[in-house]
Amino acid sequence: MEQLRALLRKVARTQATVLIQGESGTGKELVARALHKQSPRAAAAFIKVNCAAVPENLIESEFFGHEKGAFTGALNKREGRFELAHGGTILLDEVSEISPQVQAKLLRVLQERELERVGGNRTIKVDVRVLATTNRQLDQSVARKEFRQDLYFRLNVVPVAVPALRDRRTDIPFLAEQFMHRMARKHGVRVQGFSKECLAALTAHDWPGNVRELQNVIERAVILCGDGEPLGPDHLGLDGIVATAPAARATHTPTAPTATTAPPGAQAGPDADGTLPTLAELEKRHIFAALARCNDNRTHAAKLLDISIRTLRNKLNEYAGKTGGDSEADGD
Ligand SMILES: Nc1ncnc2c1ncn2[C@@H]1O[C@H](COP(=O)(O)OP(=O)(O)OP(=O)(O)O)[C@@H](O)[C@H]1O
Ligand SMILES: [Mg+2]
Repeated sequence: MEQLRALLRKVARTQATVLIQGESGTGKELVARALHKQSPRAAAAFIKVNCAAVPENLIESEFFGHEKGAFTGALNKREGRFELAHGGTILLDEVSEISPQVQAKLLRVLQERELERVGGNRTIKVDVRVLATTNRQLDQSVARKEFRQDLYFRLNVVPVAVPALRDRRTDIPFLAEQFMHRMARKHGVRVQGFSKECLAALTAHDWPGNVRELQNVIERAVILCGDGEPLGPDHLGLDGIVATAPAARATHTPTAPTATTAPPGAQAGPDADGTLPTLAELEKRHIFAALARCNDNRTHAAKLLDISIRTLRNKLNEYAGKTGGDSEADGD
């Protein structure tokens, strides 16, 4: 983390475009926010666009804005995110997810720092610093011709790689301690630090969900631990044992607050009482397990399940007894 901090200090004061790469949950957004905060633009806007969450047909207008009447539903003119970020920083979160058509338009803004609103013909100049994150290997997307090479080069002026937590295990005790204090405050619990076995378990775990997973595990441990007790390995539930409920069921609403006992995932085969769940029931349990694991963040849950966010949204609406799918706002 110290190495990363030193790099950020150097890069922050420049105007350079930065591509932040790393697995999900490693802290890429935190890095982007730190870059902005330490930059000469700190007092100006920091605008984030989640490229994976905005529906494909809306992303162009999201980026560049639109004029009144540009398309059905464009009742008023609207400024895009690039305009809103004028003088400040824009974060293109999960930039790998944008379509080739929008990639071409994005390239132009990066090259010329100018754009036109959708349905407009006036050229608007913008002064923005661009940061982007991705949890895919963008060079591989380029090789597969899914991502434009020229755009990749424009974004990758300064590459910042945020390492997976398992590749920097010495950070674990420090982060765990920080989270323990934060969660103890949040939940009004007194904790006595970690037992030696607990720290050993934390350091040995592989953390596929990286810092986000660590934060969730510590939050759960703090809640499960008795007042004034040290945190032990049993409180961590790293082997999936801590969850006592068989699996979150339909009573778990998609907008429920943070799940603190993430179930391990739906188990194939008969239930404890010998009945075999239907495929639909199993799918439902699995979806709620994924949501719980992702703190109800739908973007991440969809990624974990390898389905589109729209599919996830439709299924949740189905479970909630609603029909039709796209009107509901994302829960993250
Ligand atoms: N070094 C750190 N210190 C404290 N908290 C951290 C650190 N790194 C990450 N976190 C926390 O971990 C969580 C995940 O971080 P962040 O959202 O930046 O990850 P990400 O790489 O953008 O993930 P994703 O690819 O899934 O969007 C956040 O709650 C963040 O505050
Ligand atoms: Mg992120």
